[in-house]
Amino acid sequence: MCTVMPPDSPRPEALIRAVHRRLATWVQPGDVALDATCGNGHDTVHLARLVSAHGQVHAIDIQPEAIAETRARLLSSNLAARVRLHQGNHACLPDLLPPELRGQLQIAVFNLGYRPGSNHCIITRPTTTLMALQACTQWLSDNGAISIMAYPGHPGGDLEAHAVARWSECLPERDWRVWWTCPPSKRRPAPRWAWISRATLDPREVELGPK
Ligand SMILES: C[S@@+](CC[C@H](N)C(=O)[O-])C[C@H]1O[C@@H](n2cnc3c(N)ncnc32)[C@H](O)[C@@H]1O
Repeated sequence: MCTVMPPDSPRPEALIRAVHRRLATWVQPGDVALDATCGNGHDTVHLARLVSAHGQVHAIDIQPEAIAETRARLLSSNLAARVRLHQGNHACLPDLLPPELRGQLQIAVFNLGYRPGSNHCIITRPTTTLMALQACTQWLSDNGAISIMAYPGHPGGDLEAHAVARWSECLPERDWRVWWTCPPSKRRPAPRWAWISRATLDPREVELGPK
């Protein structure tokens, strides 16, 4: 596992901007993208712009309110036609996504935790998050990647961030490259960003760090 330590603990907004910049270099027009936690729809809208009218985005959330919020945001941006919304548990993503997309995802985006402005009891949980991440490794394209934002600062978030870190450490090194902005730590509960890509890529192409 490779770790890139940011100069100081980044605020979530700064880290999300860094993630969006990274996605903009990674996702091309015509690609297929997954937003595994669409929440208020900000990441889904970003992905929908990147894939263009030739690509498609699949967006999942367990909360009907999140699906409605994301739909409204897409409609107001005139991007709804390129996005399929799925209300459900991302642990069941093999049942939610069209089977022909297996092996086609260029990117799977996870923004963990709770939906800002909503019930903070509805959060992503380690068991289902790991099931979804494991499924994604089967659904990525040959040069696909997974982006994970984890928030150790809220109750349950620290356990989840550690579980995701442990899971990522167990991915076979010959198949996967794993970067964390900094490893989850009890002393620094700042948000963490992980980028997991297939090892077949030229390492220079996946060099990264929040700017
Ligand atoms: C931090 S928010 C996502 C923010 C979102 N990406 C955005 O751009 O606004 C996390 C979301 O994960 C959703 N969630 C929690 N558990 C889930 C599960 N098992 N399957 C799918 N979504 C889940 C929550 O409902 C919440 O909307």
